[in-house]
Amino acid sequence: MSEVFFVGCGPGDPELITVKAKKLIQKADVVVYSGSLIPDPILNLCKKGKLYDAAKLVREEIFNLLYKNAKKDKLVVRLHDGDPSIYGAIKEQIDNLEKKGIKSVVVPGITAFLASAAALGTQLTLPGVTQTIIVTRAESRTKVPKREKISELAKHKATLIFYLSVHLLPKLTKEAIAGGYKKSTPVAVVYRASWNDQKIVKGTLNDIAKKIQEEKITRTAIVIISDVIQPQSYEYSKLYDKEFSHGYRKAKVKSIKN
Ligand SMILES: C[S@@+](CC[C@H](N)C(=O)[O-])C[C@H]1O[C@@H](n2cnc3c(N)ncnc32)[C@H](O)[C@@H]1O
Repeated sequence: MSEVFFVGCGPGDPELITVKAKKLIQKADVVVYSGSLIPDPILNLCKKGKLYDAAKLVREEIFNLLYKNAKKDKLVVRLHDGDPSIYGAIKEQIDNLEKKGIKSVVVPGITAFLASAAALGTQLTLPGVTQTIIVTRAESRTKVPKREKISELAKHKATLIFYLSVHLLPKLTKEAIAGGYKKSTPVAVVYRASWNDQKIVKGTLNDIAKKIQEEKITRTAIVIISDVIQPQSYEYSKLYDKEFSHGYRKAKVKSIKN
């Protein structure tokens, strides 16, 4: 059966690509890639194949390229920045390909929010602070269901992560405060995480919109709202606690509670 590979190639640093993704690009006959977010060193891995920039094409044109070439048993790669499952619009292509008898294989990649957490050198969950990560976007042309309004998600006071939303920061921060976050809640914006021109801007819900406006950041950024960015306090993990036993290790000292 003919197939198309939907491949994630990571957030930008050419070394943050999986071995599997690299091999597929090297062997591909056709690569349809997601515009400017794919760095040249990754596109240059495609030695023998033909490259098409999906940013210049509409859905039907992309579909035809994938379909026609897969039908001829060519090795076809639809190359996505980050991970294909995160705001990647792959489902519509996979479903249409399936209707025409073409199988799809998805190869995961490192998504931008994980590269952003790495850039911040932090954890996104911390004992005593939050154990939950919410990944979302602010509403613009793409509608967001009412139950996922920022003010609703904010009620959890979890780590709230936004894709595709940095240009909407004034509205976004207002809604997060309306939903329950304190104005002093830390916010980090990571622009072009893992690229050479990566920029990190930190602030609070109260001042981040102004800072980002001053930095003139309007795209390709992840917004993270969370106390984990600058916790007042947190607890150490149980897993490595000397009083804690688990399947691979006995406690090294007796708990004083025993
Ligand atoms: C259409 S989405 C694609 C996301 C991608 N599939 C992923 O997993 O990272 C594009 C958005 O991802 C975010 N993004 C992608 N690469 C980024 C990077 N290197 N640094 C920060 N944000 C990035 C930005 O919010 C951008 O507007």
